[in-house]
Amino acid sequence: DEDRRNTTIRTRVDGRVGWITLDRPEALNALNSEVAREVVAAALAFDADEGIGAIVITGSDRAFAAGADIKAMEGLTGRDVAVGNHFHAWQSFADVRTPVIAAVAGYALGGGCELAMMCDVILAADTARFGQPEITLGVIPGMGGTQRLVRAVGYFKAAELVLSGRIVEADEAERIGLVSRVVPAEALHEEAAALAAAIASKPLPALYAAKAALDAALEAPLAEGLRLEKHLFASLFDTADQKEGMAAFREKREPRFTHR
Ligand code: HXC
Repeated sequence: DEDRRNTTIRTRVDGRVGWITLDRPEALNALNSEVAREVVAAALAFDADEGIGAIVITGSDRAFAAGADIKAMEGLTGRDVAVGNHFHAWQSFADVRTPVIAAVAGYALGGGCELAMMCDVILAADTARFGQPEITLGVIPGMGGTQRLVRAVGYFKAAELVLSGRIVEADEAERIGLVSRVVPAEALHEEAAALAAAIASKPLPALYAAKAALDAALEAPLAEGLRLEKHLFASLFDTADQKEGMAAFREKREPRFTHR
């Protein structure tokens, strides 16, 4: 349960939940190569741990993350950005099998909004603000924003935000489907912890399968997604937890999952 401090993040394990807290207060948690390296390493370590059934990523009261680090990007050439940079590293975060909850308070802008959209659930404090202001800097979203925002909120909402850089508050973000749920800021971590614990208590093989199938809904044609769902659904009948879950129902008792 102790906090482990890296240079730009803190990590903590609480029961079956792994927490990653972005911790660069001097830059509103702007994402640089070190943040990318540390977040991805922490997420992959949690993902490899069978004792972890959900991951929460969060920031501070003021900022989830105010975007990629503008000061570190300013002098880069097109070639620098195209080859061997940290923007690609974030794909490993999106590839994590374990369900990930973003608990967002304050700014989630640019790469911060994109990082939240790599997660499976976005819980927003009523202080949260989302946007893709890259256009204002002469660039465009580069960590999936144009693709994931369109899929999340539809073309016309996404295009308005990406083309104007307009920032939306939590209630509008919820209305357009960019967040799962808005909660009072003071309850954000409690709500994230409760949801993460509820998810993490579920059988791990089914969680992995559910996330993989949900991902396919955004990535694959319908027929391919349906085939994957059918295959994953069948494969779960060979898990101990399926036998336990259904036996517990029949015996009218709580299941004791082994996450196998
Ligand atoms: C580097 C940042 C930063 C960022 C804030 N800071 N955002 N540093 N990169 N993205 C720093 C500020 O320079 C300042 O440090 C300190 O954090 C506090 O920020 P302030 O601006 O003083 O705070 P405030 O006036 O409250 O304004 C908050 C804000 C503003 C509205 C969030 O900071 C802002 O507009 N930030 C940039 C948001 C943005 O454009 N994000 C998109 C980035 S592009 P100092 O030391 O200077 O006082 C992107 C591309 C993604 O994300 C694609 C990647 C492939």
